[in-house]
Amino acid sequence: MLLDVRGLSALYPGSNEGLALHGVTFSIGEGEKVALIGANGAGKSTLLLSLSGILEASEGKIEVDGDALQKKNLPLIRRKLGLLFQNPDDQLFMPTVYEDVIFGPLNYAGSAAGNGSIHPSETESVDRTACGVLEKLEILHLKDRMSHKLSGGEKRLAALAVVLVMEPRLILMDEPSAFLDPRARRRLVAVLKTLPQAYLIATHDLALALELCDRCLILSGGHLRADGPARDIINDAALLDECGL
Ligand SMILES: Nc1ncnc2c1ncn2[C@@H]1O[C@H](COP(=O)(O)OP(=O)(O)O)[C@@H](O)[C@H]1O
Ligand SMILES: [Mg+2]
Repeated sequence: MLLDVRGLSALYPGSNEGLALHGVTFSIGEGEKVALIGANGAGKSTLLLSLSGILEASEGKIEVDGDALQKKNLPLIRRKLGLLFQNPDDQLFMPTVYEDVIFGPLNYAGSAAGNGSIHPSETESVDRTACGVLEKLEILHLKDRMSHKLSGGEKRLAALAVVLVMEPRLILMDEPSAFLDPRARRRLVAVLKTLPQAYLIATHDLALALELCDRCLILSGGHLRADGPARDIINDAALLDECGL
């Protein structure tokens, strides 16, 4: 299994609200497209943060491609699993789009070299990969633009480029279609449809879930309430209603 989650519970340090996730169990195979739906506060973002090792699990275990998610494995796991943050401003922190896109691969090349020094051929290869990803997303023309001055749709694609350039096998996305106008949303959908790798998309956008995913998970109050074919789950009005959707 690409992702295997067993009895995952999570708690925000310092919060007195109790567990934000209660014993969540599911797995995702190579190339699988999965939607994660649930009302506000259901625990969708919490689950994605736990899966990326940003929020430590209080109980249970997470394995990515057979490796346990633990601090010592994080660099390895971050190569296999990428998180598209809900807010692109959390992903784009360099002055230009290009610098943001090369940041991860250069960092990785530097740490792989051990002494932080990167061979010129490595820099060239990072440049080629970065430009290839920008081209695939049709935003190569935004390469030298300042990230913070882009439109919402452009920012979303630039943030996606930052994730894709690391060539993850599983992409976690937090509300990727939020705040996009119809045209930007259509572009995002078109791009996501071309991705060969597995993804887990947390979304309120049931139409997006149906368009992109064969399978759907529902979270409600931090509990996994359903896991099955997207079409069946999203058409189950009683179930959606019960889960506040
Ligand atoms: N940084 C935080 N600190 C404490 N509690 C949080 C934090 N973020 C979210 N929560 C709580 O965790 C629960 C799940 O929230 P979240 O995962 O953000 O839900 P969703 O993404 O489905 O809207 C909620 O009860 C929320 O109040
Ligand atoms: Mg959220």
